[in-house]
Amino acid sequence: MHAGNRPHSSVARLTSSMRGVGSCASGASSCADADRPKVLITGGLGQLGVGLAKLLRRRFGENNVILSDIRKPPNHVYHHGPFIFSDVLDYTSLRETVVNNNVSWLVHYAAVLSAVGENNVALAKEVNITGLHNVLDIATEHGLRLFVPSTIGAFGPSSPRDPTPDLCVQRPRTIYGVSKVHAELMGEYYHHRYGLDFRCLRYPGIISADSEPGGGTTDYAVQIFHAAVKSGLFECNLRSDTQLPMMYIDDCLRATLEFLEAPAETLLNRTYNIHAMSFTPHGLAQEIQRVLPDLKVTYNVDAVRQAIADGWPMALEDTAARRDWGWKHEYDLAELVQAVLAHVTTGNQLARAH
Ligand SMILES: NC(=O)c1ccc[n+]([C@@H]2O[C@H](COP(=O)([O-])OP(=O)(O)OC[C@H]3O[C@@H](n4cnc5c(N)ncnc54)[C@H](O)[C@@H]3O)[C@@H](O)[C@H]2O)c1
Repeated sequence: MHAGNRPHSSVARLTSSMRGVGSCASGASSCADADRPKVLITGGLGQLGVGLAKLLRRRFGENNVILSDIRKPPNHVYHHGPFIFSDVLDYTSLRETVVNNNVSWLVHYAAVLSAVGENNVALAKEVNITGLHNVLDIATEHGLRLFVPSTIGAFGPSSPRDPTPDLCVQRPRTIYGVSKVHAELMGEYYHHRYGLDFRCLRYPGIISADSEPGGGTTDYAVQIFHAAVKSGLFECNLRSDTQLPMMYIDDCLRATLEFLEAPAETLLNRTYNIHAMSFTPHGLAQEIQRVLPDLKVTYNVDAVRQAIADGWPMALEDTAARRDWGWKHEYDLAELVQAVLAHVTTGNQLARAH
């Protein structure tokens, strides 16, 4: 796919070019031109990318954040800030995009998620492992700050599950999990070996109101809200007592921005757990029923998803993130339910009005 592009050729340049990578003081709502990074988000049309682009554009300016994906964007995305086609498996074209746009931060969201990955291992291997290799080499060669999200899926049945610490046995049983452990280890290796400014957060299941989940094991926790508002009936594909760590999307995206902006010297780790809340389908349904008492939930367990969830953490231990760069979640279960129901209800009313 690509030859002669290995990082050793650029280590000397890396140190000097990294000085140019902007870092705005945390707390300000926007930052001075000279400090603004130029950000490229790969896989940006999934559940998380569009929201992250919105947040980063408010902070760094609309034209300093480029969304990319291999799919055609909807109009509201296409008309609100730069969008380009970029396939992370195409090394030359990705490199060209980074060079031509003077990119200084790369957020690597392109991935095949847990449930989809188990149904197409070859694709997950290609996107999650080969794609990551391309991104690592390009980021190192061009002195980028590289953010790669990991996941609760990077742990497995032999990891301590309640809570799961930052450092412990990681023997996941999905190709998704294996590829994310690989990403954590490769990123940390490139950091130590070549000085790459690699940053990685292990996200819990992320709950959003206005973007669709992309085929993960925690998707039910998004779908239940839409069903609750539309029909009042929801069939859950996980057992009612399956406890998993979850987070509202606003907390996840804010964590990502704050972590990206944290001064490198404060980061004692390069991979951190972040935690907000843990709940079961039964607990989530009960909280929604406080607002929508007619919601009825039935259970039709999907064996593949259940087996994945049974090997995942029930809660993440995140004291290092709170200590090193000030991570603090804002949404617990009650606030999450209020926020998501408000969004979903407004979205439905708008859709009916058109
Ligand atoms: N959403 C979650 O709950 C969650 C939890 C933990 C970690 N993560 C991680 O966060 C990142 C973003 O997650 P998401 O939920 O937005 O994922 P998603 O599945 O919704 O979106 C992934 C995007 O990647 C794109 N993509 C696939 N192959 C590509 C390729 N070859 N080149 C470029 N783009 C390609 C897809 O078109 C899609 O838009 C992923 O790395 C995921 O592993 C997400």
